[in-house]
Amino acid sequence: MSRWVWTLLFWPFCALAADLPAPWVQATVTGWEARSVVAAGGSCPVVLANGVVVANAVRAAAGPNYPITVCAAVLPDKTTRLTVGGVSVPPPPARVNRIVIVGDTGCRLKGELIQDCNDTAAWPWERVSREAAAQHPDLVIHVGDYEYRETPCPANSPGCAASPAGDNWEVWRLDVMAPAASLLAAAPWIVVRGNHEMCDRGGNGWFRLLDPNAYAGCVDYTPPYRAKVPGMKLLVMDTAVSNDRRLDLKQAAVYREQFKSAVVGLPKGTWLVDHHPIWAVSEGARVPKGSTTSPTLQKAFEGLMPDTIDAVVSGHIHDFVAYDFGGVRPAQLVVGNGGDAIDGISEQPGADTLIDGLAPKRSFITTAFGFVVLDRDGAGWNGVVHGLDGAIMARCKLAGRSLGCR
Ligand SMILES: [Fe+2]
Repeated sequence: MSRWVWTLLFWPFCALAADLPAPWVQATVTGWEARSVVAAGGSCPVVLANGVVVANAVRAAAGPNYPITVCAAVLPDKTTRLTVGGVSVPPPPARVNRIVIVGDTGCRLKGELIQDCNDTAAWPWERVSREAAAQHPDLVIHVGDYEYRETPCPANSPGCAASPAGDNWEVWRLDVMAPAASLLAAAPWIVVRGNHEMCDRGGNGWFRLLDPNAYAGCVDYTPPYRAKVPGMKLLVMDTAVSNDRRLDLKQAAVYREQFKSAVVGLPKGTWLVDHHPIWAVSEGARVPKGSTTSPTLQKAFEGLMPDTIDAVVSGHIHDFVAYDFGGVRPAQLVVGNGGDAIDGISEQPGADTLIDGLAPKRSFITTAFGFVVLDRDGAGWNGVVHGLDGAIMARCKLAGRSLGCR
């Protein structure tokens, strides 16, 4: 039996046996790729796009703490049928009518901040992923912060007993790839880098597995890009290292230069998709009441925000929040309630809550785990803010810069 046939027939079973994730499709800076993970030194599986073999090359060979090989296959335009190692994978979207947005999904293990990673009530990312997949989206946007297990589970915390910690494959498997399996199998993803994917946190796993650029190790900054999603205009930005508590002028200068180039010729109706909200209340367990964010990004984009950007889609704050600034600036959506400990903003922003000098005209906050589904409705989108177990926490309407939820 030729190696080609052997790989095609047996790769799925090898993947299962070694606890390796199933293949998935994600947007990259140039288009779409099928990504797959095989054991260290293994052969990349055969990729068939519309029945034709396309090259599937090693993206990231095994390295320290990562005994896996990550493969990537650039998908031709108009791929409508796709298999990777014999496994059917949703091809890049031809038309997007339904989007799932999730964010901030990993299980918190950092010093005294401990989530019960072994309890799907305390850390429900696998449930969020499964319930979001059941909505049959055409596209998934993960707004960042995947890997949260930074320090070992304390001996006196049975809820996270036996959890690994650190920037290594076992953490990426348990915090990200395994719980996300349903949602990765449901639709292609747009992946956004969060601060948990900085180089001194989970950055090595991010760049090996998910970063949308060619692999070249971990770096602080990667350039913005326009995702190739038919019928949508998405400008995706990596703001991972940006300081969200205080103004960092050096960082602001870097993001400003990136943004200046990125907005040239930007089409009307664009959404800026990044991890850190530009304009939001940031109160939470770790931030004093009344705080707003992000000073660094506000400075970076000062005077540059074009009227072609309708909405900013972010995460980082562990709630669902929607802001409408009366059209003066883009609407701000925050979907950071996918699994990591909820922040719990205590009060609805009022007329005296100034965010970068402007109070929101309307805002909506819900402080429970869940995800958002957006359905295309003419030129706008109808949103449903889902909680767990089928709960519906709110319904929203996004049209241009107008965003209302109730
Ligand atoms: Fe974050």
